[in-house]
Amino acid sequence: MQALMMTKYGDITSSLAFQNITKPTISTTQLLIEVHASSINPFDYKVLKGDFKAFKKITFPHGIGRDVSGVVTEIGDEVTNFKVGDTVLSRIGEQLVGTIAQYVASEAKHTALKPDQITHQEAASIPLAGLTAWQGLVTIANLKAGEKVLIHAGSGGVGTIAIQLAKHLGAFVATTTSTPNVDLVKKLGADQVIDYKKEDYLQQVNSFGVVFDTMGGEHTLDAFKVIKEGGRVVSVNGEVDDILARELGLNFIIRKILSLKAKKITQAAAKKTAMYRMFMMSSNGPQLAELADLYMQNKIQAVIDRSYGFTESIEALEYLSKGRAKGKVVITH
Ligand SMILES: NC(=O)c1ccc[n+]([C@@H]2O[C@H](COP(=O)([O-])OP(=O)(O)OC[C@H]3O[C@@H](n4cnc5c(N)ncnc54)[C@H](OP(=O)(O)O)[C@@H]3O)[C@@H](O)[C@H]2O)c1
Repeated sequence: MQALMMTKYGDITSSLAFQNITKPTISTTQLLIEVHASSINPFDYKVLKGDFKAFKKITFPHGIGRDVSGVVTEIGDEVTNFKVGDTVLSRIGEQLVGTIAQYVASEAKHTALKPDQITHQEAASIPLAGLTAWQGLVTIANLKAGEKVLIHAGSGGVGTIAIQLAKHLGAFVATTTSTPNVDLVKKLGADQVIDYKKEDYLQQVNSFGVVFDTMGGEHTLDAFKVIKEGGRVVSVNGEVDDILARELGLNFIIRKILSLKAKKITQAAAKKTAMYRMFMMSSNGPQLAELADLYMQNKIQAVIDRSYGFTESIEALEYLSKGRAKGKVVITH
């Protein structure tokens, strides 16, 4: 079968190639999915660049892409909750061949049924970004109705879902974006939009319960200026906290170095009796099923910026890597 493969660490133009590889064989707990659509995330080009090699080395050639929507063509002996012919979506595990391929294997526990009311393209736009929004806002921040949440980069793949999920949870949502995307985030339900090209968000928001930091850098530390006493700062791009360092299995010395790097953040959190968490999203079928249900009920709508053909996947990654996507970039197979 054809698959887009990473051939080495490097940039998008020189380190990717379409290859003919063997169709995956599945274990007893997995499904084989014929891919109808996939979507891409900054994670994909960051892995390619080698951003995560300190945590996890990969051997080449290695597949790329984690999000899939498609049709089940085989099931493992222990799989009881899916059958051949089901339409499904998944954020597949990192050890598996990527989703920019004709077929992918997925653990059944990482997979959810695709509602008929949404297309394969819409379904493929959900997994990684949707689970990130879910795990950040629901699992970690425990965002409640009536609370104020600041979501950075509301027009991005994660942000467009996070705004809608936070509104569904009953929160007051403020978000940052640039001038061309102001109308988009308003339509998604944002109550307060801060155009970062024209205004300093630090002057516009204060006493917020939660900051969902998708930006990292100075945004992480600055989050403590806008939260109230006892607030929560949840980041997907900030300094690694000790919980994540332990989850990643890092040794004591590396954990010590990381805790020194995060010292200003820890101190800022302590001053406000606030919570700080940096997390890496994880595959989760039941959470994906809850998200898919929200799309089925139109509580969340897929925001698809661009759709590319399978053979245009490298161009799709180049576009995404510019950092200007409005919602998700999907690939139709
Ligand atoms: N830790 C994890 O598990 C995890 C999971 C998912 C994502 N992430 C990370 O989270 C980040 C966001 O992911 P994504 O999928 O949403 O990326 P994305 O779709 O590529 O984000 C693009 C969006 O970012 C906005 N943006 C860029 N600079 C901005 C700024 N200074 N202020 C406000 N908005 C800005 C852009 O809007 P404008 O054009 O208007 O600037 C654009 O709409 C990435 O770095 C990704 O790697 C981490």
